[in-house]
Amino acid sequence: MKDMQGKVAIVTGGAAGIGRATALLFARAGAQVVVADWSEAAGREVVEAIEREGGEALWQRVDVSRDEDCSAMVDATLRHFGRLDIAFNNAGVSGRIARTDDQGLDNWHKVIGVNLTGVFQCMVHELRAMKAHGGAIINTASVAGVKGAPYSAAYSASKHGVIGLTRSAAREYGKYGIRINAVCPGYIQTAMADEIAASSAPGSSDALLAASALRRAAEPGEVAELVLWLSSDKASFVTGAHYLVDGGLIA
Ligand SMILES: NC(=O)c1ccc[n+]([C@@H]2O[C@H](COP(=O)([O-])OP(=O)(O)OC[C@H]3O[C@@H](n4cnc5c(N)ncnc54)[C@H](O)[C@@H]3O)[C@@H](O)[C@H]2O)c1
Repeated sequence: MKDMQGKVAIVTGGAAGIGRATALLFARAGAQVVVADWSEAAGREVVEAIEREGGEALWQRVDVSRDEDCSAMVDATLRHFGRLDIAFNNAGVSGRIARTDDQGLDNWHKVIGVNLTGVFQCMVHELRAMKAHGGAIINTASVAGVKGAPYSAAYSASKHGVIGLTRSAAREYGKYGIRINAVCPGYIQTAMADEIAASSAPGSSDALLAASALRRAAEPGEVAELVLWLSSDKASFVTGAHYLVDGGLIA
């Protein structure tokens, strides 16, 4: 089904995990996709995978914590594809797993810089590009954006911030036909989840899975399906919302 034919979509963090799965799904739905990431080899591989399936994609190197990169990403999209309809602001880092007083200010600035300031900067440039004709923005928060996450205070604060940013901007830009929502993944099987498991106390990942209703981790594609729906006209009355995709972890 080519629901997104004629649409142009940016995916940040598009080189791996949830972003990669979403870039592939967007392309299968007919969108022209900008794969934006700071990891070049993996990002170019995603572009090639899309092209092998007959889709259209552009590689764009970006560090979302640098405003000039975010601006260049949107400029390159407009130059190459002529418009911007959808943006999935998803690039993120987990940061140090440590007690709050041991996390360090360097970790705080890094995590907030990528996860929150990065989303803000991407949105500013995307909103300017969408204002004339409308669009849809989806930001990646987390279950840690609706509940405290012990030993991940900076990460949890950044994701709570993403939800506040999403809701505030949604109220401002609805009049321009721009819908802005967030997704809150639970335990998704990606490199980030492996990294967190490796630096957490032994058994804590198993405990997390045991606490979820479905008692399993998700594939990245299961988050991508929600992002696709929120991006599509099927979600035409949905804005300012945040959606759990967590297998019942928070329930
Ligand atoms: N995996 C999970 O369990 C989980 C749960 C909740 C939320 N999330 C969120 O989902 C998003 C995607 O994470 P993932 O699990 O797919 O992880 P991942 O590590 O597989 O992918 C993250 C991608 O973001 C890119 N990236 C990181 N910092 C960047 C920067 N400054 N500029 C550009 N690109 C950058 C990485 O290169 C990588 O390709 C993140 O925002 C993460 O916080 C993940």
